[in-house]
Amino acid sequence: MLNPFKKWLGNLEKKDAPISPSIDLANVPTHVAIIMDGNGRWAKQRGLPRVAGHHSGMKNVKKITIAANDIGVKVLTMYAFSTENWKRPKEEVEFLMKLPQEFFPMEIAELVEKNVRIRMTGWKESLPDHTLSAIEDAIERTKHNTGLILNFALNYGGRKEILAGIQDMVQDVQAGTFHMEDLDEETFSSYMLTEDLPDPDLLIRTSGELRLSNFLLWQLAYSELWFTDAYWPEFTEDIFYQAIAEYQRRARRYGGI
Ligand code: IPE
Ligand code: IPE
Ligand code: MG
Repeated sequence: MLNPFKKWLGNLEKKDAPISPSIDLANVPTHVAIIMDGNGRWAKQRGLPRVAGHHSGMKNVKKITIAANDIGVKVLTMYAFSTENWKRPKEEVEFLMKLPQEFFPMEIAELVEKNVRIRMTGWKESLPDHTLSAIEDAIERTKHNTGLILNFALNYGGRKEILAGIQDMVQDVQAGTFHMEDLDEETFSSYMLTEDLPDPDLLIRTSGELRLSNFLLWQLAYSELWFTDAYWPEFTEDIFYQAIAEYQRRARRYGGI
């Protein structure tokens, strides 16, 4: 079978071949999380309004999803809108909230064909109805798919998630359905919005910013972090595979030796 990643595989072994990152398909991160940042600056650099950057960024999502799926990534969590992003100008927020109803109808057929399952991590309550229905429709249409989980972190904030998890747990303790002696890292994880998902193995942030911006604070405890100066709209499959190759060169010690 023709391997579409031939150019990434085994290049280092070939003497005269250019040095490219090579990907070991047996050591692909299970869960990759991406902070898709830099849409506004990408647009500004081109003399375009910020929202043009968001639109261009949206178009990049399917491409990277398919690139991840093709090498066997199981979960791809994309930070699309934080609980802090409501602070932005009303017009920008409104534009962002309209993207799901454009994205899903345009891309769903191909995502379904690739067996991708859509999920959302975040608070649904404060989303406009049209945003929520676009996402819920995509979740419903892909719920039986068994391939890559494309998880959108939308109206998500890590601190809020931890506080909400503690509140839920206290309620369960009061109701007698959870006992404090059962509290450990695993049971606490089940109170996070990510519930059953494994923690990310690799976090990628685009646009040169070196911070977490309230993303998956509990879950990223032992993730490998990888940053690129590329703005999200210009992030390519090649850059994605560079991140994967770099991940594969890291030694994950989890405090051991
Ligand atoms: C990321 O791009 C998208 C969202 C946060 C919704 P930005 O909009 O943050 O782009 P910059 O960081 O201002 O360039
Ligand atoms: C983080 O990017 C949120 C998303 C990518 C959705 P921001 O652009 O909001 O983060 P800060 O404000 O630079 O930390
Ligand atoms: Mg930003």
